[in-house]
Amino acid sequence: MDVDKLISKLNWFYSLELNQVDFYNAQSKAFKGRYSSVVFERLTYIEQNHADRLGEKIKELGGKPTALGDIISPIIGKIAGELLSMTGLEDTLAVNIIIEQKAMKDYNDLIDRLHQDKYSDQELTKLLQSNFVDEHFHTEWFRTKIIAMKQYEFTAKHFSARTEMDPANQIIEDFLDNRTRSNPKRAKMIKPRPIKTVKW
Ligand SMILES: [Fe+2]
Ligand SMILES: [Fe+2]
Repeated sequence: MDVDKLISKLNWFYSLELNQVDFYNAQSKAFKGRYSSVVFERLTYIEQNHADRLGEKIKELGGKPTALGDIISPIIGKIAGELLSMTGLEDTLAVNIIIEQKAMKDYNDLIDRLHQDKYSDQELTKLLQSNFVDEHFHTEWFRTKIIAMKQYEFTAKHFSARTEMDPANQIIEDFLDNRTRSNPKRAKMIKPRPIKTVKW
């Protein structure tokens, strides 16, 4: 891959990361007062760090970090800004997973390509890998949170006699119940969709 192509690819990631900074920042405000708001605030910081480090790399390669505008909306098929005002936390988390998975897939593809090309800049590979790992963590937190919310909905609906219980205890108890009383509907709720990492 020539350097111009590499710079343009890195610029795409740079723009995606900046889009995520804005998106998580908006989510942090939208869900103020909840634990998720603090998580989104932290994610804003992490994605900004991803963007900054990519920007530095682009400059090092002789390019100019350029924000390409809204690249999240085509990924999710909706206007990202409008989406927040229309959806609750659960759908927001689902959308975040879609975006993080797109980032993971593309980071993985570029790492693979650089590996195939025997690209010698180990620092760039390391940067892409560490961003990938962070996006993986983010995806898993969103997934865990959705599962916890679904589980709480389920227990509130079906075990209303126990609603005075601490929700966390309900979730733990239901999990323990579930080991002996399988519920296919619940198992289908959040299907893990692992991204196969290639040889890094
Ligand atoms: Fe990121
Ligand atoms: Fe992320």
